[in-house]
Order: sequence, then structure tokens, then C-alpha cells
Amino acid sequence: MPHVEFHNIVKRFGRVTVLEDLNLRVEDGEFLVLLGPSGCGKTTLLNMLAGLQEVTEGSIVIGGRDVTDLDPKDRGLAMVFQSYALYPTKTVRGNLKFGLSAQKLDRSEIERRVQWAAKLLQIDRLLDRKPAQLSGGQRQRVAIGRALVKNVDVFLFDEPLSNLDAKLRTEMRLEIKRLHQELAKTIVFVTHDQVEAMTMATRIAVMDAGVIQQIATPDEIYERPANLFVARFIGSPAMNTLKTTAVRKNGCIGAVHAPTGVHMDLSAYPFLAQPRDGDPLVIGLRPEHFTIGCDARGDVGARFSLPVRYTEKNGSDVTAFVDSADGELIAVRFDHKHHHVPKTGDVVEIHFPKDRFDVFDAVSEKRI
Ligand SMILES: Nc1ncnc2c1ncn2[C@@H]1O[C@H](COP(=O)(O)OP(=O)(O)OP(=O)(O)O)[C@@H](O)[C@H]1O
Ligand SMILES: [Mg+2]
Repeated sequence: MPHVEFHNIVKRFGRVTVLEDLNLRVEDGEFLVLLGPSGCGKTTLLNMLAGLQEVTEGSIVIGGRDVTDLDPKDRGLAMVFQSYALYPTKTVRGNLKFGLSAQKLDRSEIERRVQWAAKLLQIDRLLDRKPAQLSGGQRQRVAIGRALVKNVDVFLFDEPLSNLDAKLRTEMRLEIKRLHQELAKTIVFVTHDQVEAMTMATRIAVMDAGVIQQIATPDEIYERPANLFVARFIGSPAMNTLKTTAVRKNGCIGAVHAPTGVHMDLSAYPFLAQPRDGDPLVIGLRPEHFTIGCDARGDVGARFSLPVRYTEKNGSDVTAFVDSADGELIAVRFDHKHHHVPKTGDVVEIHFPKDRFDVFDAVSEKRI
């Protein structure tokens, strides 16, 4: 199975630079998700890999072969687009076969592949229908099928699920993941949806403004975000980030949040670089790690007593937004089966465990 390499990729449209010296290696059989906000360059990168857009500088290598100047059809990959781009006048079978028109195959082989893909995607009973007679999810499967029949080693997906409703998205997510496990092919999957990235990827490359901010496993990205951008981009509700000042006392490191006067005990934090007394730090606190009321677990690293601005209920999940006294709200998530839900104006005591802080340098915005 081939791996994919991007070497020093630069992409300019006229005078606008969209990607600047990007380097990335996708391993054999990996499910790599390119995740980032709208306009960060995900589609551009995927299109260059597919050969649909030219590279301004740099090179692309697939399985050890430089493909930078090769035609799309000679690169040994298949792409599924966001708009399914099915032929409305062709049947499902016709659409699937069309994916093979560039390859010179005999009829029985074409039919064998169509049947195989249709069965795998559970659209074998729909082969004689036209796209207009299919649901959104079924059309999406045909679009995936058209890539599958090509029998290549690298599959590219550009936001294939964004046109589907929430339930179908969840189903298709599982299905694509299952396909990856069954076929063991290399997949590069573009999305701006962090849930898709977290649930499907073997590794995620988080992009912002044409630059890869971090590339790591979903767990690593969630547990140890490399900078504030990644920290705030992954997680729902987003990670709380409080501006603080480092304090060193008797060899122990802490941080003080001036608006509330709260001291955070950072003695359990595995610093990459030790801050000096007085350094500005941003402390990250994930909403789900707080405990509320007298329920504190483990070693408490910070205690706040703050008024609730409003609460949001989602099934058994409740998020309380408390006022951090500097104009920002702190999101605190808990399960309402175990707590009574505070009302606006109630002052709640919340605790944050000592071993759950994330610490960033306020100037470089990097994890320290
Ligand atoms: N043909 C073009 N000419 C000029 N600028 C372009 C062109 N295509 C894309 N861009 C710009 O390049 C940047 C990256 O676009 P791209 O489509 O790769 O973003 P994306 O990450 O896929 O976003 P989305 O999530 O919205 O699909 C954007 O700022 C876009 O405006
Ligand atoms: Mg895009």
C-alpha cells in the first residue's frame, strides 16, 4: 500500500498565498483527516493531491513515485466529492460503471466490481434506479461506490457527509470507518467537523490559514493540544481559556487569575518549559473536567465560586455558563441526573482537578 508525501508545498492564486511550505506524510493504510475551518486550504490540498489543481512549488509523492506533474488518472487514486456529481440520466449501475470508463476492463470484470461495491455499500437492490429516485444517503453511497470500483489504493474524500442530516451522518461515519477497516486502504478525508475527525481518523492534521497546526492521533489532539488554536477548535463546548500570571513559590508553580483572585495549582502539570514568576500564561480548562458543588474528585487544582449566567440542557447533559468576572463565560458541563440544575444568578462552587490543566504561553500561544 502506498504512502503519500507532500514536500514543501506552496500554493498561490495570483498574489494570494493559500498554502505556505506545507509538509505532510500520510502512512500506508492510514485514515488521515484534514480538519480546519472554512477557507483554510483543505480542498486545495486535496485537489493538488488528486491532480485537479497545480502545485505552485514543492512536490507530491505517492508510494515513492513523484506524481507532481502526472495526470489525475495516472495517480492511482479515487476521489469522492462533496457534491456527489452523479449523472442524473444514468442509473446507479451506469454511474458506478462510469467510474471505470478510463480503465480498459472486460465486461465481466466491470460487472464483478459493480456487484462487489454495491453489495459492500448495500445499494445492490438499487442498481436500476436513477439518482432522483434515491435518498441523500443512498446517493452518497453511490458516489463512494464510484470511487470504490476503481480498486485503487488511495481514496480521497472532500466533506462527503456535509449534505446529510445528523442521523445519516452518524450512520455514514460508521460505514466509512467500517470500509476503511475492511479494505485497509489509505484514506485522506477532509472535513471541518471535529466530531467526524475525532471518530474516524487514525490521525488528524489540524489546519488553520494554510498551516498545519498539529498532526497527531485524536486522543493526543484532545489531551495535549499543541497550541491555543487546536485547544479551542477541538471539543464541544470549547475548552475554556483563562488569562493568568505564573507564580512560583517555594519551588511550586501556580497561576493566578486576577479577575477572580483564584489560584491554580500547577504542581501536577508536566511542563515542557518551566515558566518564570510573572510570565503571562493561558490556562485551558475543559468544561467536562469540572465538578460542581461538593462533588470534587481527586486532587483539586482550582476552586471558583461564580454566578451562573445561563444554562443549556441537552438530554441529560447540562452546560452552565458562569461569569469569570473578566467579561468571559466559563462553560461547565455536568450530568443533571446527579445534580440539581442551577438557575441564572445562583452562585455555584466549581472545582477543577489538578491533573487536568492545559498550559499555554500567552505570547506564543504554544503549549508549554
Ligand atoms: N481558484 C481560486 N482563486 C483564488 N482563491 C482561491 C481559489 N480557490 C480557493 N481559493 C482560496 O483559497 C483558500 C482555501 O480554499 P479551500 O477551498 O482550499 O478551503 P477549504 O479549507 O476547503 O474551505 P471549506 O471548508 O469552506 O471547503 C480560500 O481562502 C479560498 O478563497
Ligand atoms: Mg473545501
